[in-house]
Amino acid sequence: MTTSEDPEPQAAFDATIARRDRIEPRDWMPDAYRKTLVRQIAQHAHSEIIGMQPEGAWIGSAPSLRRKAILLAKVQDEAGHGLYLYAACETLGVSRAELTDLLLAGRQKYSSIFNYPTPSYADVGTIGWLVDGAAICNQVPLCRTSYGPYGRAMIRICKEESFHQRQGYELLMTMMRGTEAQRAMVQESVNRFWWPVLMMFGPPDVQSPNSARSMAWGIKRNSNDELRQKFVDMTVPQADALGVTLPDPDLRWNEERGQHDFGEPDWEEFAAVVRGDGPCNAQRLRHRQAAHDDGAWVREAATAFAARAGAR
Ligand SMILES: [Fe+2]
Ligand SMILES: [Fe+2]
Repeated sequence: MTTSEDPEPQAAFDATIARRDRIEPRDWMPDAYRKTLVRQIAQHAHSEIIGMQPEGAWIGSAPSLRRKAILLAKVQDEAGHGLYLYAACETLGVSRAELTDLLLAGRQKYSSIFNYPTPSYADVGTIGWLVDGAAICNQVPLCRTSYGPYGRAMIRICKEESFHQRQGYELLMTMMRGTEAQRAMVQESVNRFWWPVLMMFGPPDVQSPNSARSMAWGIKRNSNDELRQKFVDMTVPQADALGVTLPDPDLRWNEERGQHDFGEPDWEEFAAVVRGDGPCNAQRLRHRQAAHDDGAWVREAATAFAARAGAR
C-alpha cells in the first residue's frame, strides 16, 4: 500500500467504496482510512482478549462440570476472536506485538464494559445474554464493512457470538426456574449490567464526531443510536420471557415510533470508565501485563523454533 498525490488511486478507492465493494490489503487507501481501521480493529481485538477476564475468573468455580465446559469453550472462543482480529490488523502494516504494547501502555482502548466486576455466577449468564447480545448488534453490520480482512473475520466471529448469547440466556433461564434466591441473583446481575451494556454502543450520535466519516468510508454501517435502539427493541421481549425487569423507569413501547422509548445512560460514568477510572480498569491491565510477562518464554521459544526451522 502506498500513499500517493496521484488522483487516480483515490478515484479507484472512492469507486470501490461507492460500489459497497471491499478494499483489500494491497489496494491503495487514504492514510486516515488506514489509521481509523487500525484503531478500531485493535480496540476490537483488545476487547476480545481483555473480555476473557471477567468470565474467566469463574472457570475454576463453575457450579457444575457442564457449566464449566460451556464457559471454558466460550472464553477460548474469545481468545480466537482476538487472534483473527490481530491478524486482520497486521494486514494494515502493524504487528501484534506493537498493538499489545500500545494496549499495555494505555494508548489503545478496549470496550468499557470489561471494566465492570463479575461478583456472581449469574453475571456469566448476563454477559452472554446482554454483552454478547450487544456485541452481535454491533458486529453483524461489520460483516459488510468495507475492509476485506475485517469483514471476513467478523463473519466467523458472529457465528460464535450467537452461541455465546444463547448459552447466557439458557443459564439465566435455568436460574429463573430455580429458587427464589437464584431469581434474585439474576435480577441483581441484570440491574448492574443494563446501563453499562447500553454504553457499549458508544456516545450519542450528536457527540460522536468520528462516526460520520467512518460511515462515509463504509467502515461503520449504522450509527451508535440506531444500534442502541435496535438492541433495546430486541432485548425487551427476551427480558419478558425470562421474567426479569430492566431497571429503567422510562422504558416503554412507543406506538407512534414503533420502537421503545428508554432513558439516558449516565454518560459521565461512561467517560470516567473510558478515561481509566472504572471499577476494574487497573486490575484488568495489571492482569494482562502479568499474562504477557509470564508468556515471554513461549514467544522466545516460538521465535527460536521458527528461526531454526527456517535455517534448515
Ligand atoms: Fe468475541
Ligand atoms: Fe462472545
